[in-house]
Amino acid sequence: MATKTIIEPFRIKSVEPIRWTTREQREEFLRAAHYNLFLLPADDVLIDLLTDSGTGAMSTHQWAAVMEGDESYAGSRSFDRFRDSVQDIFGYRHVIPTHQGRAAERILFNVMCKKGDVVPNNTHFDTTRANIEFVGAEAVDLPCAEARNPQESHPFKGNMDVAALETLIAKVGRERVPLVMLTITNNSGGGQPVSMGNARAVSAVCRKNGIPLYFDACRFAENSYFIKLREEGYAFKTPKQIAQEMFALGDGCTMSAKKDGMANIGGFLCTNDDILARQEQDLLILTEGYPTYGGLAGRDLEAIAVGIQESLHEDYLRYRIASTAYLGNHISDHGVPIVQPPGGHAIYLDAKAFLPHIPIDQFPGVALATELYLEGGIRSVEIGSLMFAGAAKMELVRLAIPRRVYTQSHIDYVVEIILKVFARRDKIRGMRLTYEAPFLRHFTAHLEPVEAAVSVV
Ligand SMILES: Cc1ncc(COP(=O)(O)O)c(C=O)c1O
Repeated sequence: MATKTIIEPFRIKSVEPIRWTTREQREEFLRAAHYNLFLLPADDVLIDLLTDSGTGAMSTHQWAAVMEGDESYAGSRSFDRFRDSVQDIFGYRHVIPTHQGRAAERILFNVMCKKGDVVPNNTHFDTTRANIEFVGAEAVDLPCAEARNPQESHPFKGNMDVAALETLIAKVGRERVPLVMLTITNNSGGGQPVSMGNARAVSAVCRKNGIPLYFDACRFAENSYFIKLREEGYAFKTPKQIAQEMFALGDGCTMSAKKDGMANIGGFLCTNDDILARQEQDLLILTEGYPTYGGLAGRDLEAIAVGIQESLHEDYLRYRIASTAYLGNHISDHGVPIVQPPGGHAIYLDAKAFLPHIPIDQFPGVALATELYLEGGIRSVEIGSLMFAGAAKMELVRLAIPRRVYTQSHIDYVVEIILKVFARRDKIRGMRLTYEAPFLRHFTAHLEPVEAAVSVV
């Protein structure tokens, strides 16, 4: 590329207005939402960075394909197009549509796991972990050593610790490990990529032990582009060739098409195993639907068939990775602590380093997310002690970037707001819980600001 400026590789045909509010209004909205950003009506948010899942903008090609949707209950031609498109990239023999990623996980782990089993992963996403634990198995995270330090930069911080995988298999015994998972990119580990070299090494350990390897493929296109940029020998391969090479190292995958499927809903489960596929389809019929639609409309299958191919376009990926890094680099250049290097789909603020005066039990991540909303109507999400309680390893605030939704000036605005909050960080107070549900408390918790300490002289 000869030019320095990387532009959005699209022009805008349909716009959705966003609503300005005043600081006084936002104070009121926050109080009404009990200081929990999940409880805010989306209309009261100016820039919504809560998640990149299902929040992307579809292309004209996707909308055109939607009109081609065949809504037949069985044997829909939309399923044929969906299966062919998935197989073109992923290469697996069986493609089972599901309504989203977690439905694929539930079916996979129900069929493959039982009580007492152990499932290693670089880092399990929360629904993956929950579905494994639901069948009585144990979900074990084996991130590489570099992943533990948020400020340390490394090209492939999403890698699995291969030596730890071998040790775990030797310790618990091969019979108790029904599958190994590799999450690309590693969402819970900061959206960091996994290298081809690491996937190859994990695959070799699996093959040696006769254990199937499954990918959690939600952000496979972003991962492929990071490999192209950062791993020796891949600069001249297309993202699609890289994805194909990676999936050939495994035996199947789960996928949430709400991410790199570029769709607003959908997912799938793939396997090369004929016997497993039959069991999975039986379970699918029980709760999701017939195997040629799996809980989706024909039009959704069409949108995904087009979307997974678009996510691999190089001009899109160049813009996607550059625009996420743009946000991360602009704030970190001003001293704002973030997980380094910037990930593919999100920037993670290190709330513990941002607000060192707020103790962990006063939720620095929630305090920071609340301030970003108050200052500029930006919605983010805490990934720390409110979400994971005692199991939290870091106190982060995630700013997830929806695909093809916000322009550079939206991101410039986000940078400005973060820097304003950073400038007055000493005055930010901690938060206290006033209500919590017995599980997944972050979705419904109520909180309030801790009163300013009364100084005694
Ligand atoms: C890595 C990863 N796996 C699985 C899922 C679950 O997908 P879904 O939300 O479609 O159920 C997500 C969703 O955010 C994810 O990021």
